[in-house]
Amino acid sequence: MKAAVIEKQGGIENIVYRDWEDPTPGDADVIVSVRACGLNHLDIFVRRGMPGFPVPMPFISGGDIAGVIEEVGSSVSGWSKGDRVTLNPQTDEGMIGEELVGGLAEKVRVPSKNLVKLPDNVSFETAAAIPINYGTAHRMLFTRGHLHPSETMLILGASGGVGLACVQFGQMVGAKIIAAAGTDEKCDRLSEMGADHVINYQSEDFSRAAWLASGKEGCDVVINFTGGETWAPSLRAAKKCGRVLTCGATAGHDPQTDLRYLWVRELDVLGSNSYSQEDVARSVDYVADGKLSPVVSHIFPLEKLGKAEQLMEDRGFFGKIVLTP
Ligand SMILES: NC(=O)c1ccc[n+]([C@@H]2O[C@H](COP(=O)([O-])OP(=O)(O)OC[C@H]3O[C@@H](n4cnc5c(N)ncnc54)[C@H](OP(=O)(O)O)[C@@H]3O)[C@@H](O)[C@H]2O)c1
Repeated sequence: MKAAVIEKQGGIENIVYRDWEDPTPGDADVIVSVRACGLNHLDIFVRRGMPGFPVPMPFISGGDIAGVIEEVGSSVSGWSKGDRVTLNPQTDEGMIGEELVGGLAEKVRVPSKNLVKLPDNVSFETAAAIPINYGTAHRMLFTRGHLHPSETMLILGASGGVGLACVQFGQMVGAKIIAAAGTDEKCDRLSEMGADHVINYQSEDFSRAAWLASGKEGCDVVINFTGGETWAPSLRAAKKCGRVLTCGATAGHDPQTDLRYLWVRELDVLGSNSYSQEDVARSVDYVADGKLSPVVSHIFPLEKLGKAEQLMEDRGFFGKIVLTP
């Protein structure tokens, strides 16, 4: 098969579109013929290398997979060749695209227990925007964050994969959404999508703007997966007894903080990691029922993975970048 292979860790030049041995299924596995694979910031981290997290090279990343079952292992039941599927990439053996060979290829091996049926009214490209972003947001907002309909939620990085999923889940349950992004264009898109208030954090002090937008009370929930210099101002944007939720640190995992806000405002800082099969399956159902509408920003042929990753690094997209083999 053909695949977009990371030959060694480092820059985009290390991605080579080339032949790779076809995967074979174990007894409990299926082989999925990949029709679309969504890009995540994780794919950038896997390619660049993460301290303390070695990935065997050469490697194929890609965990947000949608496709059709091509081959079924001998002990698999309930799934057949030709079924449309997406999947939960967090398997018992490790994460597909980070620890197990991923879906930025024509085919991928998947444990059958991780499959999620894909309804006919959800396209492969849309499905490739669901598992990691919506699964992560679902766990962070509801399982960890206990978001309530009447609450005000500030979302940083609202134009990206996890960010837009947070915006849409918040809207789905009736929360007030303050969405922050890095350009006026992205803010306009977020307004068109119904965000109650938008903040361009490149030109505005987002902490002060969110404070004002919340009627000088502060936000019940602040979503920060950026870290770095955005961390301390995020604490300032939260209201007394508010929750600050984090699932990542795109701009730096060792930020400066301000402990005074934690005790004076009695803030809860809650981490959230990963997602369950149910988080993914429920997200797919919400999309099929029209309650969530993932935004596909760009679709690239798989051989253009380098170009797609450059676009993600340059922050020149809104929603999800998808690759098709
Ligand atoms: N723990 C977990 O299970 C889990 C799961 C999924 C994702 N994550 C983490 O969540 C974060 C977001 O992931 P994602 O896939 O949604 O990423 P993404 O699609 O690239 O979106 C990230 C957004 O953050 C904003 N941003 C702010 N500062 C940035 C910077 N220095 N570099 C790049 N973007 C920056 C960008 O929007 P603007 O240009 O508008 O600022 C961008 O759209 C990542 O750190 C990822 O590792 C964690």
